[in-house]
Amino acid sequence: MSISKEKIIQEQSLLEKLEKQTTTIAHIGHVEIGVTNLEKSLWFFTEVMGLYVSASEGDRVYLRAWQDFDHHTLVLKKSDTSGVKQIGWRVSSAEALKSFENQFKDMGLDYKWVEEGSKKALGDTIQFRSPAGLPVELYWEKELFVNTDPATASKLPSHPSKYTGKGVSPRRFDHVNFMVNDVVKEQQWWTDLLGIHHRYFVQNENDIRLGSWLSRTNIAHEIALMRNANQNGALFHHLAYYLDSPDELIRAANLMAENDIKIEWGPGKHGTSGAQFIYVIEPSGNRVEIWTGGFLIFAPDWNPIEWSPEVGPLGLDLWGSKAPESYFTYGTKLL
Ligand SMILES: [Fe+2]
Repeated sequence: MSISKEKIIQEQSLLEKLEKQTTTIAHIGHVEIGVTNLEKSLWFFTEVMGLYVSASEGDRVYLRAWQDFDHHTLVLKKSDTSGVKQIGWRVSSAEALKSFENQFKDMGLDYKWVEEGSKKALGDTIQFRSPAGLPVELYWEKELFVNTDPATASKLPSHPSKYTGKGVSPRRFDHVNFMVNDVVKEQQWWTDLLGIHHRYFVQNENDIRLGSWLSRTNIAHEIALMRNANQNGALFHHLAYYLDSPDELIRAANLMAENDIKIEWGPGKHGTSGAQFIYVIEPSGNRVEIWTGGFLIFAPDWNPIEWSPEVGPLGLDLWGSKAPESYFTYGTKLL
């Protein structure tokens, strides 16, 4: 019995498809930031934001929101300069990590394989930089959070720790945002190489891309890239934690005011994602967003939504407030 040529071609393309499926990112997992004032930043993230410390080791503190299932979603590292040190993304399988390594080798991308045990709660990681210099680490294994503190243990199996209402008390880590000189170039790299889907984008009157929002999961975005108005390179714009409801967002704004944390912008509502927001600057100078709402995406063949210059301002805030100048120019460093 002979196998037809068509059948062989069909099987080859199926194999190629399967191979591609294993070389994928699953979701954003954590962000590691440098803080110049560890003590004050830790106070902000625990007492004002209401995150929980899952470990503290040397000059690093590992934090998570009450329903973050992982060991950590934020790492604070004592540093001479504030900024971002790593953006952690989980890949879809152990094979995917090797597969990404092979791909990087083939294309001559400069990367570092970091063995399990070098980084707290993480298995092997691959570290590399995007064209704009954004520091990325891919991993498959990460410890889950195990609660050993009776004060925060929950009887609900779906709650890795109790909802206590301490501080802002976000439910979970949500996304990161960067300013870059060339949004199109950076977005294409993230989509083409890492498979992070392009969700929506904003163009200006000269048809220059002002921003692109991307995700691998069904949330509106896990990473955003915005044009640096000063064109002076890539900067860390913000990290964001998610709240369930607008009333909690107003409560968060009140907590910021009571604790002398500068609210840079908001409360407002982004027309692009439909999420309501406030932006604050934490004591070491990194910007933090607290947000709630936002649409979800289920279509596998999603077409990125274009926001033209006529509706661009509504994309930023559909209630009509204007972002301060600092929003388009201020960021902390890529470390
Ligand atoms: Fe954001």
